[in-house]
Amino acid sequence: MPTRPLLIAPSILAADFAKLGEEVRAADTAGADWIHVDVMDGHFVPNISLGPAIVKAIRPHTKKILDVHLMIAPADPYLAAFAEAGADIITIHPEAGPHLERSLSVIRDLGKKAGVALNPSTPESTIEYVLDKVDLILAMSVNPGFGGQSYIPAVTAKIAKLRKMIGDRPIDLEVDGGITAETAPFAAGAGANVLVAGSAVYKGGPEQYKKNIEAIRAAKPRAAA
Ligand code: DX5
Ligand code: ZN
Repeated sequence: MPTRPLLIAPSILAADFAKLGEEVRAADTAGADWIHVDVMDGHFVPNISLGPAIVKAIRPHTKKILDVHLMIAPADPYLAAFAEAGADIITIHPEAGPHLERSLSVIRDLGKKAGVALNPSTPESTIEYVLDKVDLILAMSVNPGFGGQSYIPAVTAKIAKLRKMIGDRPIDLEVDGGITAETAPFAAGAGANVLVAGSAVYKGGPEQYKKNIEAIRAAKPRAAA
């Protein structure tokens, strides 16, 4: 069972980029707890999305936490730019640089919460020695790069292991990729307390966003089949 209340973080990757400010406000008023921002470089992942200028542009549109997920390598040269742009949480992948502990310390020194993201095939042991340096662990439940992919069921067991590894530490456990009203119960059941959802929130037009968020939040935690 999650030890913290379940939070929903809509990913603006699935929003209409031609009116991002409006889309961020719409998710905010529809009940989003955080706004998740997917940054892709076309190198670490096979897609290019957005950079610090966009984070800065959307910042005035919400007071909610901007949860910035960097799928870029290297990440170090850009940490300050994302901090200055208004990110509240900055999450990096261990593969993005040679010195994970140092990068996480830099994020905290910038006054931001530090997150570490694990690809589906990255073992949880990778972060065993940085647990006192992170505020958030992000378990990818798809291979990063694109929205609209299907949740990988094998990740559910990994979420449970991460929850156990976290213990009593004040660390959020976030799951990202393929989260829908149907898959959310497995992620929440395994112990995730933050669910990222792109396509499942930004579908059907702004008048549907509230219903879409509520459907995910209503997830009744359940054990994997
Ligand atoms: C994938 C991104 C996810 C993605 C989620 O690389 O990190 O945040 O946008 O999108 P959905 O919910 O559509 O899988
Ligand atoms: Zn993400």
